[in-house]
Amino acid sequence: MLMDARLIGYLNRAAGHELGAIQQYLAQSRLCEMWGMADFSRQFSEDAKEETGHLSDLMDALLRLGVTPQASHVPPVRLGRTLEQMLEIDRQLEYDAIRLYEEAVDYCARQRDATHQALFDRILRDELEHLGTLDQLGSRVKAA
Ligand SMILES: [Fe+2]
Ligand SMILES: [Fe+2]
Repeated sequence: MLMDARLIGYLNRAAGHELGAIQQYLAQSRLCEMWGMADFSRQFSEDAKEETGHLSDLMDALLRLGVTPQASHVPPVRLGRTLEQMLEIDRQLEYDAIRLYEEAVDYCARQRDATHQALFDRILRDELEHLGTLDQLGSRVKAA
């Protein structure tokens, strides 16, 4: 099989996004722990675990293609000074992920690459759900 450079680019870009997300959610989890907000600390820790699962799947795909995973463009960590700010920053991160995965799904569909289309689509659905959860948490925090 011919090496598809654009596909590898999407896989590595996505890996970079996931690495950044893990770093951000884990840091927010630790910060919430310090603020005495155990519920949110747990929530962010779960988020970091989900993003780790995405990163593992992307790495599996790269390794199966015979490519060493090389995450590119790891987004910088943004914490926020309040819980409300944190959730807004996280929504932005998830928006960026959704845009990237939508583009990757479209590309694979055009290439008739069903295997990688399914992989990107599965992660895209997780990120859409994640955004929904952040929206709900955000409205709860605003209402409190
Ligand atoms: Fe993710
Ligand atoms: Fe996510």
